Amino acid sequence: MSQAPTDLLTGLLTDLRAAIGADHVLTEPADLSTYGTDWRGAFRGTPLAVVRPASTNEVSQVVRLTHDAGVAIVPQGGNTGMCGGAVPSGDGDQIVLSLGRMRTIRDVDATGATITVDAGVVLVEVQAAAATAGRLFPLSLGSEGSCTIGGNIATNAGGTAVLRYGMMRNLVLGLEVVLPDGRVWDGLRSLRKDNTGYDLTQLFIGSEGTLGVVTGAVLALHPATPVRATAWVALPSVAAAADLLAVLRDRAGDRLSTWELVSRPARDLVVGQGVHDPLPSSAEWFGLIEIAGPAGSNVGDDLEAALGDGLAAGLVLEAVVAGSPAQRQGLWELRERITEAQETLGPTIKHDVSVPITALASLVSRLGPALQTALPGIRPIIFGHVGDGNLHYNLSRPVDLPGESFLARAADLSAIVHDCTAELAGSISAEHGLGSSKAASAAAYKSEVEVSVMRAVKDALDPSGLMNPGKVLTLE
Ligand code: FAD
Ligand code: MLT
Ligand code: ZN
Repeated sequence: MSQAPTDLLTGLLTDLRAAIGADHVLTEPADLSTYGTDWRGAFRGTPLAVVRPASTNEVSQVVRLTHDAGVAIVPQGGNTGMCGGAVPSGDGDQIVLSLGRMRTIRDVDATGATITVDAGVVLVEVQAAAATAGRLFPLSLGSEGSCTIGGNIATNAGGTAVLRYGMMRNLVLGLEVVLPDGRVWDGLRSLRKDNTGYDLTQLFIGSEGTLGVVTGAVLALHPATPVRATAWVALPSVAAAADLLAVLRDRAGDRLSTWELVSRPARDLVVGQGVHDPLPSSAEWFGLIEIAGPAGSNVGDDLEAALGDGLAAGLVLEAVVAGSPAQRQGLWELRERITEAQETLGPTIKHDVSVPITALASLVSRLGPALQTALPGIRPIIFGHVGDGNLHYNLSRPVDLPGESFLARAADLSAIVHDCTAELAGSISAEHGLGSSKAASAAAYKSEVEVSVMRAVKDALDPSGLMNPGKVLTLE
């Protein structure tokens, strides 16, 4: 995008300060670099400024002013995204709009089982408010202490309870969105049924800030599940992990909340960081199972029966069941600490792929040799949401290869992972979205028809191309 003239930018900053207060229009280099970099330091940009509006009305004023000045906006929540979606370009010509001051829980309705929140509310705060009302908000991610509801909606976040409750799009009933020209769409409905034409709520979910700024949402709550049975298991193979899903479902039905896969290198990495290993097995694959139910339910019996079936069928080698909340927490750490632990190996080349669950074993058996041939000594750290057919096939550098040289190979290594995924009828982004890093790849794997319809939607809502440009769809 071309740089707007300096006097126009000065005028814009003056107008923004008048609209939301000078303290909330940041232009100091230290502030700009914090908001201009993602949590891993994998994506770096330079914001023209950072604006921090406190209400939907202020967001609307900001967007109208920037739109009229021809300046692009990059919405940002907790900045925990994996693919550069919340990071501005390096040209210093885009404004980061942080939702960090919009943190009000507007309403909790235990009877209607809904919660209405500002987009900047952090996920754990929604979970806690739901729990206080005796309900469950089931979205659960390793980043839940920092990521925001707006970011979860914009990325259509997944996490560790998708196989029971679905992705974020299954948990949103209504939205409030500031459109790219500053108009406010009030779609804050709490209806379970509404068939009045195109579903705009679902259109904005997963749009990664390219169609508008989400300012509020009505979310669906579920019955609380205070009784939990949790196990850590050693597995003979990835195929066994896929087969075990059917066994778990036969025994636990829809009380099965979590079925996560962890490879031995991923387990070893986390244990190397000091997390207790309750099952020091030499198996190549491990898994975390959780079955949850309402007070008085026998989820422990379901788990025991399922593990018995799994052991008898040779799908489980060994298992340990949490005997206390502290032990449960310990088992969860073996899974949730992987992302953070992998950063200690140097820069990570991340992949977030999904295939039909029956193709998972084939994906893993093909990718291992192909990647070792392409870059001997490469260290795949594989883990993910096996119940959803979603693996994080994340790559770390060979020990003697500098990080920079490793990252220089990102395109060809990712092509190996993505080609194989596509051959198995999979998706190159199961839950993290496309951001800037996967926009071009996604277009290459989609049909021309699909990409042109996506572009038509973008052009209809954002004809000036000022709402998070270059994310999801490449710049033409
Ligand atoms: P940001 O990173 O700030 O933004 C992400 C995208 O959303 C950007 O394109 C941004 O422009 C847009 N956006 C943000 N807020 C708004 C808004 N209000 N309106 C419009 N657009 C907006 N993700 C998963 O899906 N599953 C996981 O299991 C998972 N585990 C993770 C574990 C760790 C340790 C970490 C660090 C991340 C993990 N993530 C996971 C990725 C990330 O946390 C999610 O993508 C999350 O939904 C991003 O929320 P955020 O508020 O940080 O968004
Ligand atoms: C997770 O499931 O923990 C994250 O989505 C994975 C990642 O770090 O790639
Ligand atoms: Zn994940």
